[in-house]
Amino acid sequence: MTALLCGSFEDTERDEWLQALRQAAPEVDWVLQPSPQVEVAVVANPPPGLLQGLPRLKLIQSLWAGVDRLLADPTLPAGVPVARMVDPAMSRAMAETALWAVLSLHRGFFAYARQQAQARWQPLPQRRADELHVLVLGLGAMGRAVAQALRAQGYAVTGWRREPGAAAIDDGVQQAHGDEALPRLLAQADVVLNLLPLTPDTHGLVDRRFLAAMRPGASLVNLARGAHVVDEDLLAALDAGQLAHAVLDVFHTEPLPPDHRYWQHPRVTVLPHVAALTDPRSAAQVVAQNLRALAAGLPLQHLVRRERGY
Ligand code: NAP
Ligand code: GLV
Repeated sequence: MTALLCGSFEDTERDEWLQALRQAAPEVDWVLQPSPQVEVAVVANPPPGLLQGLPRLKLIQSLWAGVDRLLADPTLPAGVPVARMVDPAMSRAMAETALWAVLSLHRGFFAYARQQAQARWQPLPQRRADELHVLVLGLGAMGRAVAQALRAQGYAVTGWRREPGAAAIDDGVQQAHGDEALPRLLAQADVVLNLLPLTPDTHGLVDRRFLAAMRPGASLVNLARGAHVVDEDLLAALDAGQLAHAVLDVFHTEPLPPDHRYWQHPRVTVLPHVAALTDPRSAAQVVAQNLRALAAGLPLQHLVRRERGY
């Protein structure tokens, strides 16, 4: 089997991936340039058009969990299955970031950082974890891991998804689904944590209406995609005090431009898209499993439903 590795990465990063993939799947002929022999494309947001005209292509395997940029390429071969990265190591990393963000909001650590900058000694009220309602938007690979980790710390957690699904979540995580449920959930949450995929349905979801429906003084944590949020509406809600704080890992333009208001806003914490990095050591094993399934004619894992966009 010939597999093409391509993406928008630096040479050193590409070499790291190549080494990990060769180790995980030594039976595969790994190449870096498209050719008619290529049967699998292992991709990290490749340049649009790169996967056209590969007559033997049977699988596009993304190294990214989110496939919004990949699916936005109108030349992406229509009949070829697309699989995305689902790696338990990545879900654990996401749960760590979510725990840090929620704990920091819960215990006022962002507020204390602001106070330190003013040499201000001011203890704030301390709430119990079970008094804090966290709404996790999206109960997929990431959202489930996050909801369970938060629940294990004692938070009152509700997860919101598109449809009532078979995937049960243990440990007392409440579940809700559908657009109608959202205003009620937003009104009761102290922290809204976004882990939705970016699709036509979720693009710009966090807008003025959404923010106005949130409980006054609540906070937003966006670890999914920048385009879920209408920046001007979020900044207006923060400036007006409707929202207490925003933790943002993802942005419309990345890197976040130096003159963007988020950088200097006292109620915004910026991360450089690091909530859950893909680790080549474990992700290469995930890829190898799918390549072996393809070679053996077995069902492929983590396939994207292209009509839904995730
Ligand atoms: P996923 O497994 O595809 O999960 C998607 C979840 O969102 C599902 O529960 C789905 O509902 C729900 N959903 C989709 N459309 C919806 C809608 N219109 N209304 C309500 N719920 C909807 O995705 P994932 O792997 O968990 O990734 C989640 C997000 O994290 C993505 O945006 C990804 O790009 C991002 N991400 C960010 C980083 C980072 O470092 N910042 C790292 C990895 C991933 P159903 O269960 O009903 O289908
Ligand atoms: C990161 O954002 C990913 O989608 O893997």
